[in-house]
Amino acid sequence: MGQATSDTRVPTVVADDVHIVYKVHGAGAGKGSATSALSRIVSRRKSPAIREVHAVRGISFTAYKGEAVGLIGSNGSGKSTMLAAIAGLLPTERGGIYTNGQPSLLGVNAALMNDLTGERNVVLGCLAMGMSPAEVKARYQDIVDFSGINEKGDFISLPMRTYSSGMAARLRFSIAAAKTHDVLLIDEALATGDQRFQRRSEARIRELRKEAGTVFLVSHNNNAIRDTCERTIWIEKGELIMDGHTDEVVRAYEKHNQG
Ligand SMILES: Nc1ncnc2c1ncn2[C@@H]1O[C@H](COP(=O)(O)OP(=O)(O)OP(=O)(O)O)[C@@H](O)[C@H]1O
Ligand SMILES: [Mg+2]
Repeated sequence: MGQATSDTRVPTVVADDVHIVYKVHGAGAGKGSATSALSRIVSRRKSPAIREVHAVRGISFTAYKGEAVGLIGSNGSGKSTMLAAIAGLLPTERGGIYTNGQPSLLGVNAALMNDLTGERNVVLGCLAMGMSPAEVKARYQDIVDFSGINEKGDFISLPMRTYSSGMAARLRFSIAAAKTHDVLLIDEALATGDQRFQRRSEARIRELRKEAGTVFLVSHNNNAIRDTCERTIWIEKGELIMDGHTDEVVRAYEKHNQG
């Protein structure tokens, strides 16, 4: 990392042997067809038991202040689950996650209201992140400019549902990036923006890092990971495969995917 020795670094997220199990109700061994449901009702058998998906299996790591950490791995390997757990949205089955500061999850599914205008969403989003009305007023134009929503006309005064998925993702990112976060969790938010916006958001992530937060970035775009993170964690099937310098880890991941 170069900036400090390991004793002076401030840990922001500690994952200690984390296990996460999803419990899926009514998705047991039985086939989900109407006839099987009917036969169950007729024969008065109990509905299928809860099925469990063991999505994260014993992951441990420590992230420090000022670090940007990439999370890579194939579809369904547990990346989004891990981020949601760091954000405190999912309970751990076993092990624990300790965070120093408030983590915020900036997902492609972050909750903006589709029926409200972009303008209202900016204001409500900022208030929800804890800004004062005066701060919101001061930051508003910067956020809209950064998002580029108004580059092709006055879209900010239209409801979110009239936005393309890329435009909506850009607005989400711009709102979340307006604040300095202790721990910022980004799940592929960059993937939907066009190239120019991706470059801009990568620059903003570097800024957020300098402002001393910790950034986690989940992406299938290895170049975005290379450009943004100096450290990368590779997980597969809920297990940690590698944790180290991005160059090394991404190279191993790419090699693995060729074979
Ligand atoms: N809400 C849920 N209920 C049950 N199982 C889930 C749920 N969400 C995810 N899973 C399961 O947990 C495992 C990990 O999923 P996760 O979404 O974390 O993967 P991912 O690494 O983010 O994949 P991707 O690259 O496709 O986004 C998968 O087996 C998935 O089927
Ligand atoms: Mg995911």
